[in-house]
This record gives sequence, C-alpha cells and structure tokens, in this order.
Amino acid sequence: MSSPALSPTAPLSPLSPLPHWEQAPDDRPAAIRQLKAALRTRIAASGRTVDEVFAVVERRIRAEVDEIIAARRRGEAVWPVIDYADIEAGTVPAAALALLQRRGCLVVRGHFDRAQALGWDRDLVGYVERNRFFENYRGPGDDFFGTVGAKPEIYPVYWSPAQMRARQSERMARVHGFLNRQWKSASAGAQWFDPDRNLLYPDRIRRRPEGANSDGLGPHLDPGNLDLWMTEGYQRAFRHLFDGTVEQYDPWDAAHRTAGPMYAGTTMCSAFRTFQGWTALSDMDHDQGVLHTVPIPAAMAYLMLRPLLPDVPDDDMCGVTVNRVFPANDRWHPLLMEALSGIPDVGAGDSVWWHCDMIHSVAPVADQRGWGNVMYIPAAPWCARNEEYGACVREAFLTGSSPGDFPAEHYERAWPDRFQREDLNETGRRGLGLG
Ligand SMILES: [Fe+2]
Repeated sequence: MSSPALSPTAPLSPLSPLPHWEQAPDDRPAAIRQLKAALRTRIAASGRTVDEVFAVVERRIRAEVDEIIAARRRGEAVWPVIDYADIEAGTVPAAALALLQRRGCLVVRGHFDRAQALGWDRDLVGYVERNRFFENYRGPGDDFFGTVGAKPEIYPVYWSPAQMRARQSERMARVHGFLNRQWKSASAGAQWFDPDRNLLYPDRIRRRPEGANSDGLGPHLDPGNLDLWMTEGYQRAFRHLFDGTVEQYDPWDAAHRTAGPMYAGTTMCSAFRTFQGWTALSDMDHDQGVLHTVPIPAAMAYLMLRPLLPDVPDDDMCGVTVNRVFPANDRWHPLLMEALSGIPDVGAGDSVWWHCDMIHSVAPVADQRGWGNVMYIPAAPWCARNEEYGACVREAFLTGSSPGDFPAEHYERAWPDRFQREDLNETGRRGLGLG
C-alpha cells in the first residue's frame, strides 16, 4: 500500500514557533531578519505563501478604499456621526452602528453642551494664566508636537478642574461604555477588559490660535512599533496575521491586547485604548488643519504584513523602529493613503474618536480661521495593563505631576487651584483606583 500523496496545500509541518523579544532587541537588523524568516515559514506552513495571504488582505482593503472614495464622490460624509442623545437613549440606528464598525471612527455630536465646552475652554485659560504658565514655560518637553515661539499650542497641563470634570463626567462615562462595547471584551475564553470601568487617562490640551500656521502631523499610528511584531503578547494578539488565517483577523477582538510588555519610548502610550479621542472646545471647520484617518480598522492587517513582501529590505519593517511612532506613507502603503479622510466640521462640545490601531494625521493649515482647541481624552477600559499604569496616574494626580507617559515637566505641582481629591466623584475615584 502506497502512502497518500501530499496535497500541495496541506500543511507539511506543525506551525513553526516565532522568536520573540520582550524588550527591544539590541541588534535590531538581525532580529528583524530572524523574525521575517520565521514569519514567512509560519505563514507558508498554512499552505499559502506570504504573497497569497497578502493578496487576500489587499482585496479586502481595496474594497473598503473603493467604497470610501465612492462615498466621497457621492458627497457623503466618510466619518460616521452619532448624536450623543441617541447614545444616552440607546437609540443609535443600526445603520450608524454598522458604519462605526466598518469605519472605526466617529464624531459624537453634542457630547457636551456647547456652552459647557466653551466654559471649559475659558476656565483652562484662567487656570494657566492665574498660575503664570506662559511666563514660566520652558519650551516643548518633547519633540512630538514641537512648536516654535513663546506660547505653546500643546499645553502640558493635566489636572485642571475643566479636564477632570470632563473626564469624570457621566456623559464621558456613557460614551466610553458605548465605544468600549464596539470591541469584543470577552473572547478566546477570557475577559480582557471591563467595558463599564475606565482608567482616567490624563493627557494634555491643545489650543491653536486664530491665524496659526501649522505643518500638521504626518500619517502614523500609535499602538506600538516593533513590539507589535516582536513580543509574545502581540504575536498572540495578531496570531491570525502571522499564521496564514488572515480571514479570521478581527480588529475589534481585544484578546491578548490588554497585558504584557511594550517597548519603552517617549512616544509610547502605556494604556490600552479602545479609541483615541478628543473633545472639541472650539468650533473647527473641516479645512482648518484637522484630524484625518484611514478609516479602515482592518488596515492593520495590511500594515503588519506589508514588511514581509520581497520589495522591502530584509532588515527593515517599512521604516518602523523603536522610540518613534509607526509611520504610514505613500512609499509602502499607497493603497491606504488613498482613503485618508478628514473629520467633518465639528462644534464645541462634539467629540472625535478613532480605533487605537488606525492611521491618523493632522492636516497642515495656514492662517487658521478661528481657534482649534481640544482636550485629549481617550477611552481606556479597565484591564491589567491600565490598572498597572493607573498606579502612576494616581501618584501623578495626588502630587500634581506630569504622568509617566509624558515629559517630566511637572508645572502643576505648586498650582493651588488644580483639581483636588475631594472633588472626585465615583467615576473619578474608580478611574484612579481610589476606592
Ligand atoms: Fe497619534
């Protein structure tokens, strides 16, 4: 009796393991070469080549890009818009929910009353002026949002009453819960985060004045850099991209995303965020240097597999390296760049959200019309990773310090009118792990 012939598509061997580095490797080119070889072998073990698997991804993304371009031609807004009132009442239309899943980004109209948002903006100005912030400003503490001139656009201010009231507000908690539920928090037999509790993640504010000129920020993504391929945790999170089962990749599955090491760096965010976001404190027209995204959550599959194609040098991950944000560009990702889409006009009190893996950029502007003021407040549900970073946040809150993810500037330590522990409500206390 002869042995059955091996089918060319049958797996020839068990899946090969991947090498992993829980800290950034010292010899990055060697590690990249080793990893790429292992990934190619692992994908090939599924019975398809990297080229074949990438072609599947490309077709899926091409269909999304074409739909976005068609929507633009039809004069439709690419970004989904949902009224806060519908989130509060639980009456978000099914079509709007489907579009949010598809595009991975959202404007929440009327998240806060317009007068409330404008009042917060005035309060922030009062807070920094009373504390002589501009007189004491020492220049940018990092080069991430580098500015030239005496007055910054990004204020390294974290603990103002205005920011804290927004973060611990019932309206923010409700939107956070809604956004967190767009993800699968329970999957693969485990609970990965609690959608109803959020880390109070302190970030800065931006106040860009009328008449400003800005170069903007190039397309990039923020969830990590080489660690996305190299740590064991992320290899598990992106398992379907790395073992040839790319059809099963779900950008909304939180499995293995909410614990484990990330490579340290000045641009890193220690928290797991379901969505990055900001709340508008002024009106902003769509053509005034505003946020753009590539509104395709599954584009992560394209970004993660693209470096394995043969036109990329063997020790290069399409320019991704440690201690820098993950770049996206026309050289390696021209298909994705076709879909780059800006937010619609937003008003004070609206909020803007985008999936944490999504490519985003800020358009340049010359002689800006009106102010461009925002409070950065993401959705960071309670999970192992966020609980751990929460200890740093709590300490920073109690001492008025800059939080660990940001330059150690500590302007607010001696500011007497910063938000106090006794001003916390239940959401604020839970968000800081203060009982
Ligand atoms: Fe970013």
